[in-house]
Amino acid sequence: MYSQNISKLHSHICIFFIFIIFFTFSAQKNLALDPKFKACAPQTCGNGPNISYPFWVSHQQESYCGYPNFQINCTHKNPILTISNHDYIIKEIIYSNHLLLVANAAVYNDDDDCPAPRHNLSLDRTPFQYSSDHIDFSFFYNCSSELPESIYTFPVNCASNTTNHSFALFHKEALEKMNYSSDWCQSSVDVAVDMAEDVSFASLLDMTYVEILKMGFFLSWTAHGCSNCQGSGGRCGYDNNEFVCFCHDRPHMKTCDDENGINWRTKIIIGVVATFAGVVIMCLIFFIYQRRIKKPPASSYVKSRDVSSDTFSSVKDVERGSTYLGVHIFDYDELVKATNNFDSSKELGDGGFGTVYYGKLCDGRVVAVKRLYENNYRRVEQFMNEVEILARLRHQNLVSLYGCTTRRSRELLLVYEYIPNGTVADHLHGERAKPKEMPWSTRMNIAIETAAALSYLHASDVVHRDVKTNNILLDNNFCVKVADFGLSRLFPTDVTHISTSPQGTPGYVDPDYHHCYQLTSKSDVFSFGVVLVELISSLPAVDITRHRHEINLSTMAINRIQNHALHELVDSSLGFDSDFKVRKMITAVAELAFQCLQSEKEMRPSMTDVVEELERIRSKDYKADEAEEKITSADELVLLKSGPLTLSPDSETSNLVSWSTTPNESG
Ligand SMILES: *[C@@H]1O[C@H](CO)[C@@H](O)[C@H](O)[C@H]1NC(C)=O
Ligand SMILES: *[C@@H]1O[C@H](CO)[C@@H](O)[C@H](O)[C@H]1NC(C)=O
Ligand SMILES: *[C@@H]1O[C@H](CO)[C@@H](O)[C@H](O)[C@H]1NC(C)=O
Ligand SMILES: *[C@@H]1O[C@H](CO)[C@@H](O)[C@H](O)[C@H]1NC(C)=O
Repeated sequence: MYSQNISKLHSHICIFFIFIIFFTFSAQKNLALDPKFKACAPQTCGNGPNISYPFWVSHQQESYCGYPNFQINCTHKNPILTISNHDYIIKEIIYSNHLLLVANAAVYNDDDDCPAPRHNLSLDRTPFQYSSDHIDFSFFYNCSSELPESIYTFPVNCASNTTNHSFALFHKEALEKMNYSSDWCQSSVDVAVDMAEDVSFASLLDMTYVEILKMGFFLSWTAHGCSNCQGSGGRCGYDNNEFVCFCHDRPHMKTCDDENGINWRTKIIIGVVATFAGVVIMCLIFFIYQRRIKKPPASSYVKSRDVSSDTFSSVKDVERGSTYLGVHIFDYDELVKATNNFDSSKELGDGGFGTVYYGKLCDGRVVAVKRLYENNYRRVEQFMNEVEILARLRHQNLVSLYGCTTRRSRELLLVYEYIPNGTVADHLHGERAKPKEMPWSTRMNIAIETAAALSYLHASDVVHRDVKTNNILLDNNFCVKVADFGLSRLFPTDVTHISTSPQGTPGYVDPDYHHCYQLTSKSDVFSFGVVLVELISSLPAVDITRHRHEINLSTMAINRIQNHALHELVDSSLGFDSDFKVRKMITAVAELAFQCLQSEKEMRPSMTDVVEELERIRSKDYKADEAEEKITSADELVLLKSGPLTLSPDSETSNLVSWSTTPNESG
């Protein structure tokens, strides 16, 4: 009987080895690489970016590695993409955001002695779209006269001669305002330009049109996403007019996971585990026979630990109307319904990080839903942590963040309190601007409430990073609600300098940022200084039609204040010339703005100082000053007649350098 058992044991061993051979064989088979997978390995061209799906390089890759419209020719070590019959050099590809940075190929061609573009780029019937923040750079050829000095132009000498002028300029609307008729020039062409983040508007003016064109512009593309395929170890492609995922073994439909959801790696793992289990079982059987133990050991031997419950599944569990790490989680479908499937007529604005839609929840609450652009968010836990920090910030002058959807839902949405009355920018110089609607007292209020909100943020260790009048919302009583604070916390900081996550907005950005690439609370103070000047002047922060040195409002303000020409800056409807108290207050606020706009950040006051100073300016009794001025003005009649009131030079300079040491010394 014993020998019979032994022979049985032998047959088990045989089966076991057949098992091992089978799994080894199937694993080997899976490791032999599919030729299409090999053919679609990423390529480069010269020093250009890595090129992979949806792009493909002709002569280096097969056409099935990408879409037909995404063919790249590697010419003279430059990756060239042809869009609507025009050639563009690809400078950068950001696959995660579906973005590419391109520039007109002619400006890189040393043989071309006049690389000025002669054709508009039409993106109709292409898979490409302009990014939302490009600016138009317009070329005018063979014009019968030059433009007045006040409009800054970039000469295109190669296309000009003594009688015909050719040039480029930003903001061609300025020409319409000056009544230039359409036949004034022979032809015109518009080119998109995206400002590189390390280029300021001021330095733009020292550049030639060729250098400006070399900055290039971003295009986004539409193509089947590749992250699932890539995540499963595959390479995407487009074969026989459909999307495919080339994997180690063979092409798959979407991902390298099989139809049964088992991919080749899992197969190998199962093979190894089965082999191991086989050995364990063999040993067990051997053990049983040897000891002649009738009762097998309890099944606890193979008790497996459930390791699949990670944070993702716990997020999933609470997806519907619940909270995660203290953040309210909204149901994605409810928000789709609330915004009428992101109806473009319900769009409230398009700003940093995403588009905002008006929405009405099932419970009747009216909300603003921010749909974040596809981006590489921080990891889920970190992300929720940051959202929690932002959601915990409660201040009467901050827009409340109610919550978000989970990253598991199709898109990431942030849900905010809805503020009905537009932005301060709308009211100052935008679509809601009406004469006399915002008297000085209202503007003073806006300044104080905004400063209070920022001061609260800084006390909570949050830097706003994008303070501007477009982010200061107003309710129906013109009370301030500051929006969009701290959003850059949701994204990793190590993104490239031309990533789409904005670090501030041109015209508001701390000049010190270009030295240290870091926005601090003092950067918010600088941007707030620009907001103060906007409140005083009703002028936009950047206006390319202004004189070349005054395109940035901050520079314009500093020039005017330093030259004692504040009256040229102030919105004349505010009563600066007629109302003594208003004049005194505006002058004091301009001085404060001047301090906020110092290029050395140590010279700027803190936000708490700013709040105190603004409160002091508002509550001060100006009657005594007025009486005093009346007496002295009799002697200085000549001075007053020579122009409206200017800054007192001594008070200005005494405050300029005092913030870092004795911040509260004022008045
Ligand atoms: C291209 O890919 C390689 C390997 O994946 C990587 O080491 C390299 O940094 C990438 N180059 C660029 C310009 O992204
Ligand atoms: C200047 O150029 C235009 C168009 O290129 C041409 O028609 C014109 O004759 C030229 N004038 C002179 C003085 O060369
Ligand atoms: C342009 O024309 C309009 C109407 O003809 C006129 O009101 C306006 O003053 C003109 N502007 C300039 C700058 O000449
Ligand atoms: C380019 O587009 C502008 C308007 O966007 C138009 O005025 C101009 O004539 C176009 N130029 C050419 C060469 O088609």
